[in-house]
Amino acid sequence: MTKLWGGRFAKKIDPKAESFSRSIQYDHKLAEFDILGSLCQIEIIKKANIITAKEYNLMKKGLNILLKDLENGKFDIDFNAEDIHSVVQDALLKKIGKTALKLHTARSRNDQVLFDTKMFSLKSLYDLVIEASYLIKSLKNTIQANKDLILPGFTHMQHAMPVSLENHFGAYQQMIKRDVNRFLDIAENIKITFGSGALAGTNLPASLYNIKGLPFDKDMQPSECSMDSVSDRDFVIEILSSLSICGMHLSRMSEDMILWVTQEFNFIKLDQSYCTGSSLMPQKKNPDMLELIRGYTGKLYGNLVSVLTMMKGLPLTYNRDMQHDKEPLFESIDIVKNSLKLMAGMISTLRFNKKSISKHLEDESLYATDIAHYLVTKGIAFKDTHDIVGELVKYSLDSGKKIVDMTDRELYGFNKHLNSKILKKLIDPVYSVSSKKSLKIGK
Ligand code: ARG
Repeated sequence: MTKLWGGRFAKKIDPKAESFSRSIQYDHKLAEFDILGSLCQIEIIKKANIITAKEYNLMKKGLNILLKDLENGKFDIDFNAEDIHSVVQDALLKKIGKTALKLHTARSRNDQVLFDTKMFSLKSLYDLVIEASYLIKSLKNTIQANKDLILPGFTHMQHAMPVSLENHFGAYQQMIKRDVNRFLDIAENIKITFGSGALAGTNLPASLYNIKGLPFDKDMQPSECSMDSVSDRDFVIEILSSLSICGMHLSRMSEDMILWVTQEFNFIKLDQSYCTGSSLMPQKKNPDMLELIRGYTGKLYGNLVSVLTMMKGLPLTYNRDMQHDKEPLFESIDIVKNSLKLMAGMISTLRFNKKSISKHLEDESLYATDIAHYLVTKGIAFKDTHDIVGELVKYSLDSGKKIVDMTDRELYGFNKHLNSKILKKLIDPVYSVSSKKSLKIGK
């Protein structure tokens, strides 16, 4: 394998140093973009008269063959190479001979790695948008399929008020929609820069920006400041933070469902294809996928903090520390892509245990606020209605008597506007949900 450097060295690199500094084990993922970047590079060097038309044609043909090989799984990666840039250069050398040595003219890996990583990031952000959209769709379909479903809503993990599934899953939809917007905003902010050289720009008379017709012209931006271009990793940090937020959302959804699937809640049935068993307890059907999604959040946050920390003390411009941006980036993208896929699958196969949910809805404390608001309509100050209903609930708990079973006389004792007929109307999940006027999803 030919190295991209070496002339000034009298000694070979120590094998331990060589393997320590290698990035090919992960940056091989950038192969496609590295070849595309080289296709741009030959346009520049042709225009700068560094290569002849014949050499240009030969290089273009060779690079296109490499792209095809990659597509067909025939592109060999030498995992003893230093990085993907060396592998592509070497592959071209093998395909077209010594003309390939002109490719790396007035270009630096510092610039190349940015081009590759930004292209990879753009593609990944659009993939994430697609996966997130599938999840939003599966939430929508599940709401549709369970149109009138009402469940207990919680605050502090205590029964609060009845809520529709539309409202509960609507909250997940909103979270994921914001994630999609974040991915798109970050993509919009990524400008593919090229031509910064190692740090100071290149001496070439041509640059990408006066060459028209390149495949990704519209994403290309002149490097406004070459020193910034080769040392900026903001976009990686932005992606990692948006993935952390999305992972946090998926973790919260998981946590809800982990609770809902317990015998104690028994609100839902997860499809068996997303559950695992126990090696010891034959009865178990565990929600491991949800737990793993929840658990991955730790890695997502760790990856964000690792790149933030790696960057914070770096002087301008490129420093090799920056190589450590890629593993966290690749890992976090994979985690969130896979989690979104699994979550969409679990949501669309989810079954609700309506009987068990209705049992929970029999808890009369869920309707306490509705009773208090009813009294407000009778001209009583909310603070007083709060006290009245608080006493009513306390009496019910102490006496073990359900509010709907209390006599008119007993109820009148709390307030003259309370009677059995009214309370039977108020202690009803459908009435409770439909009487809420504000901020109904989809209304
Ligand atoms: N593997 C390196 C990285 O990811 C590529 C750039 C190397 N540049 C250098 N000057 N050694 O950052």
